[in-house]
Amino acid sequence: MPEKTRVTVNGYGVIGKRVADAVRAQPDMELVGVSDVISDYRIQTAVTLGIPVYASTPSAAVSMRESGLPVAGELHDLLDRTDVVVDCTPAKVGAENLAHYRDHGVKAILQGGERHDVTGHSFVAHANYATALGRDATRVVSCNTTATVRTLTALKAAGLLAKARGVLLRRATDPWESDHSGIMNTIVPEGSIPSHQGPDAQSVDPDLDVVTMAAKGSHTQNHMHFWTVELSRPSTRDEVLEALMAMPRIARVRRADGVVALNSTVELMRDLGRPRGDMYEVAVWEDILTVQGNELFYTYTVDNQAIVIPENIDAIRALAGTVADAAESIRRTDESLGVRRDFLSAPERAAAGR
Ligand SMILES: NC(=O)c1ccc[n+]([C@@H]2O[C@H](COP(=O)([O-])OP(=O)(O)OC[C@H]3O[C@@H](n4cnc5c(N)ncnc54)[C@H](O)[C@@H]3O)[C@@H](O)[C@H]2O)c1
Repeated sequence: MPEKTRVTVNGYGVIGKRVADAVRAQPDMELVGVSDVISDYRIQTAVTLGIPVYASTPSAAVSMRESGLPVAGELHDLLDRTDVVVDCTPAKVGAENLAHYRDHGVKAILQGGERHDVTGHSFVAHANYATALGRDATRVVSCNTTATVRTLTALKAAGLLAKARGVLLRRATDPWESDHSGIMNTIVPEGSIPSHQGPDAQSVDPDLDVVTMAAKGSHTQNHMHFWTVELSRPSTRDEVLEALMAMPRIARVRRADGVVALNSTVELMRDLGRPRGDMYEVAVWEDILTVQGNELFYTYTVDNQAIVIPENIDAIRALAGTVADAAESIRRTDESLGVRRDFLSAPERAAAGR
């Protein structure tokens, strides 16, 4: 493999455009191009940013050229110069594309909209980076599942986890499509228990004893999870917080700082200058988290558009086999994206090591 891993992003939507930017921020990767089937402002933005744009299908090549886009070629041309393709197309399209990637001898990362058995491997960096090393394909699990596995892995690593039961309140739709999609002024529970996120977490770590229930809310940004966890033994709030904070990509927020709701974290990310206001971390409310004997109760918010971005970057290194150690890949990714454990750095807290 060349010195820099050559990466293609197929599907330049909510996830694809973020993965493309994150790839461009990695010194050990090169974004060779992005590919899509649309011609509107979403892909025109890539042209404006100087990213080579390709057409994913022959018919898209015609329509994209007709609309005046400077199409550099078709996806198959791009795949010939690619080591790893990150497929960020809508759910089920990635599964159809996988054979095409394999024909070109290109390693492939699919997203959470695909089923586990399509790749036979589901990825969360903290939990199973090592088992993805050198594979030809993996699936970065959904935003909700990533947050679930990340937090439960932290508790498991500290020897604290017995079983976990979660309620997930999801966003209705993504902001860019809220002119034509979403629900308003209601909450819609999922029709069966467990919701798919629990079994999905077990596709990454079969040992997790986890059950989830989910509902769709009428807001457009971020998910909110509420967890009741049976600990393996009686513990304390401090011990649990220490276990969570030991895991990269989990950050604490506090009501005491005025961070009281989903919109607070959205505003905070914008104020911190995060690209697109993205939050890659799971934001756990430190001053809501409660331990009673061997029972733990906590809540956190997940930026559904951003949380899987660092995982995709780690998955590229794992498939390419360029970094064998999960912790080293996570460190590089997090440094490049400015991932934090604490978003606010009050001097007295820093001095107290909190
Ligand atoms: N949006 C989220 O919050 C989120 C979070 C985690 C995972 N995911 C998963 O990521 C994947 C992508 O979701 P998204 O929200 O980015 O979707 P999106 O609709 O925002 O983007 C999909 C892009 O793929 C393009 N596309 C459609 N058909 C194509 C084809 N045949 N070839 C190439 N490109 C094609 C679309 O034009 C669009 O630009 C899905 O599997 C989804 O489940 C989404």
